[in-house]
Amino acid sequence: MTVPDKQINCPVFIALAKQVQRSRMHTNLRLSLRMFKNTLLKALEAAGTRIRSFDESDFQISNKEGINNLVTEVDHAAEEVIITTIKENFPDHQILSEECGELVQDSQYKWIIDPIDGTVNFAHRIPICCVSIGLEHEGKMILGGIFNPFINELFLAERGKGATLNDKPIAVSKKASVESACLVTGFPYTYLDEPNGPLEVFDRFIRRGVPVRRLGSAAIDLAWVACGRFDGFFEHKLQAWDSAAGFLLVEEAGGKVTQMNGDAYSPYKPGIIATNSIIHNELVQWVKGNIPQQS
Ligand code: IPD
Ligand code: CA
Ligand code: CA
Repeated sequence: MTVPDKQINCPVFIALAKQVQRSRMHTNLRLSLRMFKNTLLKALEAAGTRIRSFDESDFQISNKEGINNLVTEVDHAAEEVIITTIKENFPDHQILSEECGELVQDSQYKWIIDPIDGTVNFAHRIPICCVSIGLEHEGKMILGGIFNPFINELFLAERGKGATLNDKPIAVSKKASVESACLVTGFPYTYLDEPNGPLEVFDRFIRRGVPVRRLGSAAIDLAWVACGRFDGFFEHKLQAWDSAAGFLLVEEAGGKVTQMNGDAYSPYKPGIIATNSIIHNELVQWVKGNIPQQS
C-alpha cells in the first residue's frame, strides 16, 4: 500500500501502511522459512541416501587429530551432497561444516552441518549415527534437523513451532529428580585431564546408581532428550556442529539447554547440559560436584 502525497501526514494512513509493511515482512519470512525447511529436508534425505549407499561396500577410514578421531570417505561424500543442496538454493548463505570448515559470506544465515555425527559408530557399522543440520539466523537457531538413516528417524524443530519425530510432535520427559533419571553423556577423543573432568563427573552418577548411557553421537543424545527417551545429557567438549540442531530440538520439545555451569547455551562454547527442564538446576549442581546427601 502506498500513501498518496496529500495524505502522507494522516496518522491513520501511516499506521495502516506500517501494518501492511509488517504483514509483508511476515509473509516473506514465512515463505523463506518454508524454503529453508524444504532445503533442510532435501539435504538430510540426500545425505542419508549417500550414507546408506555404502551399506554393502568398504570405505576408506582415516584418523584426524587425537586417537581414534576418525573420518571416513562417507563423511566427505555426505558433506558434499549437503553443501551442494544448500548452495543450489541459497548460494549467499554462510556455512560451517565439520570436515570443510567455514564459508564466511555477507549473510545473516548460517548452516551448521555435521555430515555424520557418530563417525566411530558408523566406521564400526553400529547404526547409532546421524546427519545433523541447523540453521542460524542473526545468531539464533531457527531450524534444526537430525536424521538417522539406519532406523529412519527424522527429528525436526522450528523456532516457536515445536519439534517432531517422523512428523509427530515430541515432548521431553516428566522425570522430577536426577536420582530417578536416565542420563546420557559423551567423552572427547582426547581426554580432558582436569578437575571435574568427564570421568570424575561420570563416576559421581555411577557411584550413586544413576544410569548414564554413552551412545557416541551427541546429536542423537540431544534428539533423544527431546523425545523423552533420556531425561538429561551432559558433555564437556562439543563443537557447534555437534549440538546446534539438537539444541533447538530440546528447547522446542519443552526442555532446557545451557552450558555446563548453567550459563546460556552457545554452540560456540564447549560444555553442554540439556534436560527436560524440570531436573535442569539439580543436574547442573551434580555436574559441579554439589551432590545431595544420600538418604
Ligand atoms: C562426536 C560424537 C560423540 C561426542 C564427540 C563428538 P563425531 O562427533 O558426537 O558423541 O562424544 O565429542 O566429536 O566425531 O562422530 O562427528
Ligand atoms: Ca559430531
Ligand atoms: Ca562428524
